Amino acid sequence: MKIFVDTAQIEEIRKVKEWGILDGITTNPTLLSKTGKPWKEAAMEILKEVSDKPVSLEVIATDFEGMVKEAKELAKMGDNVVIKIPFTVEGTKAIKALVSEGIKVNVTLVFSPLQALIAAKAGATYVSPFIGRLDDISHDGISMLEEIIQIYDVYGFETEIIAASIRHVDHVRRCALLGVDIATIPFKVIQQMFKHPLTDIGLTKFLEDAKKANISII
Ligand code: E4P
Repeated sequence: MKIFVDTAQIEEIRKVKEWGILDGITTNPTLLSKTGKPWKEAAMEILKEVSDKPVSLEVIATDFEGMVKEAKELAKMGDNVVIKIPFTVEGTKAIKALVSEGIKVNVTLVFSPLQALIAAKAGATYVSPFIGRLDDISHDGISMLEEIIQIYDVYGFETEIIAASIRHVDHVRRCALLGVDIATIPFKVIQQMFKHPLTDIGLTKFLEDAKKANISII
């Protein structure tokens, strides 16, 4: 499972990169607004930091022509730019147009298997089902994801599935068990994935015993 970080905060991106587990970045207007920087400056900083990994940047226009125009501007910002297009009828038209020009597209705000089916048929590079936001309204985000995976497997779609709107570590565990291609995870949740109290207790004990036994390796 590839790990994308769902953030526009450059410090968070740098940390996950240092840890050696970063496969890509997803942003959205909300995440970019949280940086407190002009959006273009924040986006350029990310694109340069991870120039060899996909970085999703989202369009603001909602009509076909506007989306295509904005997507082409965003695509000029770097070879690693992936255009985030909201799942709508106009968006679907834009997916086809952009992909045919070699521009990678991540279809966002997907909340049902049928939306994911349409996105794949339109040729989307990635599709982003939002798990947490479905759970928030008492639906089952993981079941939606499971059905999307099943549909894509049955028809052999090449669109990669990015499990998005991840809220906690158990979402990540369940995504991994389902064999999802990618999970885009908030920084805080990635930090939590490292933690287990028995690891901390075990390490403390080993270090105490190393001291007792005068173990000094170098
Ligand atoms: C995905 O690409 C989105 O940026 C993100 O996962 C949305 O998550 P949220 O529901 O926490 O805003």
